[in-house]
Amino acid sequence: MTETRFFILLAFAIVLTVGTAAGVMPRTPQGPALTSAFAGPVSAATGVHVSEDLKAKYRRPEAIPAPPSNPLTPEKAELGKTLFFDPRLSRTGSVSCASCHQPGFDWGDGLKRGVGVTGVPLPRKTPTVLNAAWLSALMWDGRAGTLEQQAVLPITAEHEMGLELEEAVTRVNAIDGYAPLFEAAYPGEGIRAETLLGALASFQRTLVSGEAPFDKWIDGDEAAISEAAKRGFLVFNEAGRCAKCHSGWRLTDDSFHDIGLESEDIGRGQFAPPSVVIMQHAFKTPTLRDFRLSGPYMHDGSMASLDEVIEHYEDGGKKRPSLSPEMQAITLSAQERADLIAYLKTLQGPPLDVKMPRLP
Ligand code: HEC
Ligand code: HEC
Repeated sequence: MTETRFFILLAFAIVLTVGTAAGVMPRTPQGPALTSAFAGPVSAATGVHVSEDLKAKYRRPEAIPAPPSNPLTPEKAELGKTLFFDPRLSRTGSVSCASCHQPGFDWGDGLKRGVGVTGVPLPRKTPTVLNAAWLSALMWDGRAGTLEQQAVLPITAEHEMGLELEEAVTRVNAIDGYAPLFEAAYPGEGIRAETLLGALASFQRTLVSGEAPFDKWIDGDEAAISEAAKRGFLVFNEAGRCAKCHSGWRLTDDSFHDIGLESEDIGRGQFAPPSVVIMQHAFKTPTLRDFRLSGPYMHDGSMASLDEVIEHYEDGGKKRPSLSPEMQAITLSAQERADLIAYLKTLQGPPLDVKMPRLP
């Protein structure tokens, strides 16, 4: 590792730790110097050959996107963080966004199905909110288009936080300490539904996966991941066909597919006429960055281990008209299966150092 690279990585680590805690936008340091100077096409030890073109498809973006109507600022992120951890946004005063999107569970909850104010299990597993800034369709069925639109759904859903939006705004208005936070984030705009939801969205935009071993390898550090993981990356892209849907740096095409699970839930199909066969039983391809290695997996939490997930793809899923054409049975050797899992593990970055807010 040259000095330049070391300092860039160091700078990144500092931005990530200090920056995220302070609500400043973390960025991935990327630049031509990082990638071209160090990337060797052939690994010295065993010669696993991975083309630079393929690697380039997985390179992290430079900056966090935010809509022009709600540009990202540290003040908004700080306010949003406070709201995200505040259980007073729920009917019972006991459930916050962070009850289900817990930092220690990779911003999910580690459960098969989430549980909110009523104790009734939700119909679907809680997804991570990491890298949510890049989502173009939110929820397993894509029923929200932006983070701003999404934030109202859990607050008002009966079994999640169960509060009318107006009531949430009234409650926040009644808590003295929130006024200066709102004033700093949205000067002159007051405590309203738009500013409350905008702040929640802004905080979530700052939750960006830390640099994983995989990223270091993509950036040219051949020693960052094992040879098994490099072979697994090729299985992921070739024999395993995973990248047909889990593509790009977040390992998702942001699209919807029926992968042939037994679940009765028709997912995206709820918003399409039955004649649009391909949308029946279709769910959003989840990211594989910082996903819970200990499971459970899938929208219904129906799979407990990665072995089970891979077996499902080997089998090709339940045959029905809506089954994605990309779902084709695959055959992997025991070695390829192990390599694939070794690769998936390299997608885990360090946990984000987000300091818990003091609630006003
Ligand atoms: C009771 C558990 C629970 C609580 C509380 C909760 N969520 Fe969620 N969250 C879920 C579940 C379950 C889903 C998936 C729902 C679906 O797809 O039908 C989800 C989905 C999301 C998504 C979409 C992620 C994606 O990949 O599409 C975002 C963003 C999100 N929640 C943010 C929030 C915010 C902000 C709050 C607080 C205002 C919150 N959640 C409160 C359980 C919860
Ligand atoms: C046809 C598109 C497609 C292909 C091909 C595909 N996936 Fe998926 N994957 C999805 C979708 C969609 C889901 C969510 C399905 C659901 O819950 O209904 C998913 C879910 C997963 C999950 C669970 C993640 C979570 O957070 O619950 C893992 C792990 C996974 N896929 C890994 C793989 C691997 C490994 C391969 C290759 C062997 C692969 N996928 C091939 C589309 C695909």
